[in-house]
Amino acid sequence: MPGIKKARIAIVGCGVVGGATAQYLATSEDILTTKTGLQLQLKYVIDKDFTNAKRLGLDEKLFCTDLGKALGDPEVDIVVELVGGINFAKQVIESALKAKKHVVTANKALLAHHQKELLALARANGVCLAFEASCGGGIPLIRAIYDGLMANRIDALYGIVNGTCNYILTSMTQKGLSFEEALSQAQKLGLAEADPTLDISGGDTAHKLTILASLAFARFVPWEAFPVSGIQNLDAYDVTTGGELGYTVKLLAIARRVGEKLSLMVRPAFISKTHPLAWVSGPFNAVSIYGDTVGHTMYYGRGAGGKPTASAIAGDIISIVNGSYAEVFNNNSIWQDTTAPASLASEDEFTARYYLRLMVEDKPGVLANVSAILSEQGIGISSVLQHEHSLDTEKGIPVVITTYKTVEGHVKEALAKIRKLPCSKSEPVCITILDEHAEYS
Ligand code: HSE
Repeated sequence: MPGIKKARIAIVGCGVVGGATAQYLATSEDILTTKTGLQLQLKYVIDKDFTNAKRLGLDEKLFCTDLGKALGDPEVDIVVELVGGINFAKQVIESALKAKKHVVTANKALLAHHQKELLALARANGVCLAFEASCGGGIPLIRAIYDGLMANRIDALYGIVNGTCNYILTSMTQKGLSFEEALSQAQKLGLAEADPTLDISGGDTAHKLTILASLAFARFVPWEAFPVSGIQNLDAYDVTTGGELGYTVKLLAIARRVGEKLSLMVRPAFISKTHPLAWVSGPFNAVSIYGDTVGHTMYYGRGAGGKPTASAIAGDIISIVNGSYAEVFNNNSIWQDTTAPASLASEDEFTARYYLRLMVEDKPGVLANVSAILSEQGIGISSVLQHEHSLDTEKGIPVVITTYKTVEGHVKEALAKIRKLPCSKSEPVCITILDEHAEYS
């Protein structure tokens, strides 16, 4: 076929994603050639253990335990790193780039920590590093940023990018489960890891935010530069009460342009039940991106799993082989190694509305004291909710206050004073409420 471009591919790591990608490439050669005019041939599946590869029925001729053999094979054009983790995966990618192989990876943790140096190494060797599958699984999100949205200055990004947390929060919201009950159910269904720490602590979402914000705002966002909190301390009472007030809680990756600075964070936040992100349920992911020209756009799909992630990996392979990825990789100034460091706004400067649940004695003057403190900080009260309770002098009773838009630093100062009030019986709960981001702001 005239003009056909051939590429041979080595996959390193044959777990859930590696296996699904190998199976896809091994069975889709004809379809891919018909659709793209490219010939993509899987040549090696590299691992130490081929149990999964055999279960998937992959051709044993592909199996190889020696990465060096694939890297020394001049026919191999692309190495797909799917071993996960940081140290060994980094060695795999570095050796592949030094061997002048293009690299495709889904490894968000590695990219969050070392993306800048790996991008520079790829460039120094005249090859590309592509990572669509690192954020949002099968959702073509990174290519939306580097391609379809390139005409825009990105003003804000709000993402549900961890399926485990979204599954847990959906169960808490829809079934009234506690965090522990929802996590245990997710683990039984295989939707949460046996050790879910990185997911529930917000760490995995932070990895993805580092990657997405760097590209979207064309600034180098270093890892661990912004505050991260997870969902492990969320109380079912607040999920239910937020629901009564018209809100759904989501673990959000938040990024906003504030003048020349970026405001970045990961935290559970209430959003209106009418916001499209509130409808994203179970293990699905979605990201809202606001551009200065396009306004609000949203990207939705499966954020994990073998087949969806294989779809994103295959998309990267196609773009590398047809040359379109090299165009953006070499020419767009959006990559961590070709942009200036981001200047980050402090958490205290963040503006939002807040849900405050105070645990206070039920006696005259309590609300007057609390509202006086909020007033001193210039914080307006939007609603107050107190159900009738039997008096619990030990823990106090919950009084829920929602505020108008204010500055987070003022809320922290107010809470520090409220904690010291004699009527305050236990630690107040504070959850951010995000109104829909104004388009063209
Ligand atoms: N642990 C991740 C999640 C997998 O739950 O979304 C996909 O990155």
